Amino acid sequence: MKRALHGLLVLVSVTLGLVAWVAWLNVRAELPVDEVMPPTASAQLVAQGAYLAKAGNCMACHTVQGGPPYAGGRGIETPFGVVYSSNLTPDEATGLGLWSPSHFWRAMHHGRSRDGRLLYPAFPYTEYTRVSRADSDALYAYLRSLPPVAQPNRAHDLGWPYRSQAALAVWRALYFKPLDWEAQPAQSAAWNRGAYLVQGLGHCAACHTPRDALGGLDAARPLQGQMLPVQRWYAPSLTDPAEAGVMGWSAEEAVRLLRTGVNQHAVVTGPMAEVVFRSTQHLSDQDLSAMVAYLQALPVQPAEPVAALPSVPVQIKRGAQLYGQHCAACHGEQGEGVPGAYPALAGNRAVTMGQPANLIRMVLQGGYAPATEGNARPHGMPPFRHQLADDEVAAVVSYLRSAWGHQAGPVSTLDLVRDRGAESR
Ligand code: HEC
Ligand code: HEC
Ligand code: HEC
Repeated sequence: MKRALHGLLVLVSVTLGLVAWVAWLNVRAELPVDEVMPPTASAQLVAQGAYLAKAGNCMACHTVQGGPPYAGGRGIETPFGVVYSSNLTPDEATGLGLWSPSHFWRAMHHGRSRDGRLLYPAFPYTEYTRVSRADSDALYAYLRSLPPVAQPNRAHDLGWPYRSQAALAVWRALYFKPLDWEAQPAQSAAWNRGAYLVQGLGHCAACHTPRDALGGLDAARPLQGQMLPVQRWYAPSLTDPAEAGVMGWSAEEAVRLLRTGVNQHAVVTGPMAEVVFRSTQHLSDQDLSAMVAYLQALPVQPAEPVAALPSVPVQIKRGAQLYGQHCAACHGEQGEGVPGAYPALAGNRAVTMGQPANLIRMVLQGGYAPATEGNARPHGMPPFRHQLADDEVAAVVSYLRSAWGHQAGPVSTLDLVRDRGAESR
């Protein structure tokens, strides 16, 4: 009896200790918020905030298609359920009307709402925490300059236990730490600016860094690529020149990709086309060059190999026929493409990358590069989902991966079945 009581006491104290520790981790480094409202912002500060909002791509998540800008309500699908974005317009009842710059900073830096509620990391404050207070104030000034829209926030659609603040507090204790950006004096000013933008507002890690089963970013493998769990697009590794690394390109070509969506080597598609369209095309040449300086200096780390399937020779022959029939008119008999119109497929890493998901997606659903100032009327790639059966798509894709000296593994119909399911998203 005494022993049982003792055991219970130990258990209770350990639990209380853990709870206190998690609670402490969730408020560490937080300063008390103040309610001081700023004087009317200068036009310059508002313009600076508008620019930073592009760099952070705030509008994409905070606007429903066809709805008023920044009024929130867009559902962000996660493996744990749907998290709806908030109304960021200065409406007092439903938006940020009553927020002070200090409340706003706490949301960006600590991931906590005005009322003290912990925010879900579908809002990428795990990255935005690096944003400076000055930039946070500029963003705030910009958002306050928007017309107020009365639109109540939608309740999230999360299963248990994910919907509880306690579960979120534990998640944050494990994966989130507020960070003050610190420049590295050994690096150039451009590198530092680039690192600040890539790691902070650009939140490139939100897609390009692998996550574990609980959705936490794997700090040991920064920017090393991951399959986006819901969308099932592969965000390739930025540290591997055979995937999305830009260290093998000239700085000009890398800047061109972020500014226009295409360059001599590549064309952005899917979620990355959105990033270029809404965010990076609007950045100054100086900021894009800075981001490229940082990306080119990332330590090279080959992406993890994808298990290869045994090759199927007949399929490849069939694939070559299908290629001639359906693809060569645009991409060329030898996969040479047409400069300025159709990407070359020979030597293209979008074709040879270990992970074939994007390649399959492209053939099934087609797509467009983003329309940008430098590429105002992009050519489209037609979808083949209705024209080609699964085994035909597998054949043509496997052919591409072995043609013209390529040595990437073939693709099976199994890969396709999975990706047909994802493609409607
Ligand atoms: C990837 C999608 C995404 C992007 C990009 C994004 N947000 Fe959000 N944001 C969300 C979601 C989802 C929420 C709701 C989180 C919650 O309620 O727990 C949110 C919540 C917020 C909140 C808290 C509002 C409240 O009422 O508590 C603020 C402030 C905010 N975002 C500002 C921004 C700013 C500024 C940017 C750009 C620098 C930005 N967001 C970019 C998804 C995003
Ligand atoms: C919403 C998710 C998402 C975000 C955020 C994102 N990316 Fe991507 N990125 C992708 C996906 C998916 C691809 C693969 C499709 C493609 O190649 O265009 C990709 C591809 C790329 C490529 C290779 C393009 C090519 O075709 O060779 C580069 C370079 C890149 N991303 C850089 C960045 C940088 C820099 C940032 C931050 C400013 C960023 N990405 C943010 C999803 C994302
Ligand atoms: C009408 C012209 C046209 C036809 C036919 C066509 N494509 Fe494309 N393809 C394009 C264009 C334009 C793009 C660039 C669009 C984009 O990036 O969203 C593209 C992009 C691609 C990409 C991605 C390249 C990259 O760098 O990201 C692949 C892979 C591809 N096509 C394969 C095929 C295959 C396989 C076929 C035949 C089954 C085919 N295409 C038929 C025009 C075409």
